[in-house]
Amino acid sequence: MIRSQLCLLATIGCSIAADLSTLPDLLKTISDDVFPDLKSMSQYIHAHPETSTQEFHAHDLVVDYYTTTNPGLWDVTPHAYGLPTAFELDFTNKPASFSGSDDDIPIIGFMAEYDALLGIGHACGHNHIILNGLAAASMARQALIDLDIPARIKVLGTPDEENTGGKGRLRDLGAFDGVDVWMMAHPTSADAVQPMQGRVDAQANFVGETHADVVRTAYEALVLITDLAGSLPGTASTATPVEDVGMFAINVVAQEIVFGVAGLSLQEVNSTVQGLLDDTYVGVNYTIAESSDVENGVALTIEGPGGHASEGNKSPLRLSIETFRTLTTIGTEEVSFFLPGNTTVTELDVTVSCRTRYTIDLDAVLETVTSAISSKTSRISTDRPYPALEVMTPLSDRFLALMHDADHGSQADWNYSTIAPAATDAGFVQDAQIDTDTKELLSVGKVVFHPNFGICEGTPGAPCGFNHEPVFAQTAATEYSYGRTEIVARALAQVAVEVLQDKGFMREVTKLVRG
Ligand SMILES: *[C@@H]1O[C@H](CO)[C@@H](O)[C@H](O)[C@H]1NC(C)=O
Ligand SMILES: *[C@@H]1O[C@H](CO)[C@@H](O)[C@H](O)[C@H]1NC(C)=O
Ligand SMILES: *[C@@H]1O[C@H](CO)[C@@H](O)[C@H](O)[C@H]1NC(C)=O
Ligand SMILES: *[C@@H]1O[C@H](CO)[C@@H](O)[C@H](O)[C@H]1NC(C)=O
Repeated sequence: MIRSQLCLLATIGCSIAADLSTLPDLLKTISDDVFPDLKSMSQYIHAHPETSTQEFHAHDLVVDYYTTTNPGLWDVTPHAYGLPTAFELDFTNKPASFSGSDDDIPIIGFMAEYDALLGIGHACGHNHIILNGLAAASMARQALIDLDIPARIKVLGTPDEENTGGKGRLRDLGAFDGVDVWMMAHPTSADAVQPMQGRVDAQANFVGETHADVVRTAYEALVLITDLAGSLPGTASTATPVEDVGMFAINVVAQEIVFGVAGLSLQEVNSTVQGLLDDTYVGVNYTIAESSDVENGVALTIEGPGGHASEGNKSPLRLSIETFRTLTTIGTEEVSFFLPGNTTVTELDVTVSCRTRYTIDLDAVLETVTSAISSKTSRISTDRPYPALEVMTPLSDRFLALMHDADHGSQADWNYSTIAPAATDAGFVQDAQIDTDTKELLSVGKVVFHPNFGICEGTPGAPCGFNHEPVFAQTAATEYSYGRTEIVARALAQVAVEVLQDKGFMREVTKLVRG
């Protein structure tokens, strides 16, 4: 219906448009054929998690599948663009009836991520992103052949989403050149077409004459950062500190914090913590014990869920910060602090994950954080900022309509949301320019479509967390989650084929792309 209306508007290209009325059923048949093998690969990747830039098994699995097990479907480029764990698949359908030049062949790309998180495996569900990318591309590829539609499809295997902006490096290497429309889909706890945050990590280094000095200085800085909440510039801005002691990973809030107090009795420390730990600390608990590390030492071991959810709630680190704050404001001179198990350390690192809704506010948020702690820190550096991702409507409207229809499970909950739940390196690909006052989207480097789809089953006892929570790794392994990815991939394949066969639709979709 929508297709033919767009065709009326488009004067060129529609006379040869294929009849797509059979496409939904055709994609189901193709899916029955291609999805099971791809799902097995996703399950293997889930069971063998590899962190950013180390995704060697995932890379080899896909490359072997398309060069050895199933050769001839795609032109396969291993180690694409010189990145050891990037790959590219390329396919052009040129039906016998096609007489145009290669320049007339439209092209769409799918992005596939497959990196995991240190210590907590596929707790961001990227095993579903590679599955979605390969499945949607494979379904669209076969449909183009069956329907005689001249078109080209690429799949770009993009390493290192989590840590150092793999797609930013790929973009700089030209990997997205020549393809204006890129699609992917991200599993999470709810369905939404929504923007994603901008992000930059400030890495602050603290030094002290003694171990007790450095712990005090670092915790003074942590108090200052905590107190920035609510007064940061920009929209929905946050600054979440992560202590780089023990297991540290960018993007993962520590699940366990050890914090020591010397100079007070165990009972005094215990009652302080008891007074602080209310139900705003969701899932946080602690144990307390005498410590032999220092004289009269008491060690707290604080545990909590970790992950992005703890950025919204209060983390184990936050409980240690509030304990420090309370014990320093009661003003007992003899109280000092230490890190149990690390009492020789006189240098500490704290990473502050700065996030905000719009890229244009990132510098101001970072500046506020760094100036707040500049008198405490000996050195501060930042990693590569992840730009925010903006919502683009033409593809989204069509995708949402598909999610609402019976072929895709009549999912009435799907809609737009203005909440930006996390960051993504797909912002490097989109490279959005927005109006500084109205925040209206003015132009993009590339069209990026990145719906977030829910994989929590919602039945009692089914594992459900938010991305980066350890439990989300279990969510990402359920049969339900694989079923959800099949539906989303099939819808993306349908949108892709529709765009590829309709020049008017392609023009509409790409109208904001800078020339
Ligand atoms: C602190 O202790 C933990 C656990 O014993 C250890 O893994 C970590 O490397 C130590 N960190 C430093 C900075 O010494
Ligand atoms: C800490 O305080 C709580 C609440 O009063 C109590 O249940 C717990 O046993 C105390 N822990 C220790 C080790 O004394
Ligand atoms: C404490 O919290 C951790 C992390 O959420 C959890 O794994 C653990 O079971 C909890 N312990 C208790 C005694 O509730
Ligand atoms: C989507 O949200 C808009 C407002 O945000 C609302 O008007 C519309 O009815 C919603 N659509 C569906 C299908 O829920």
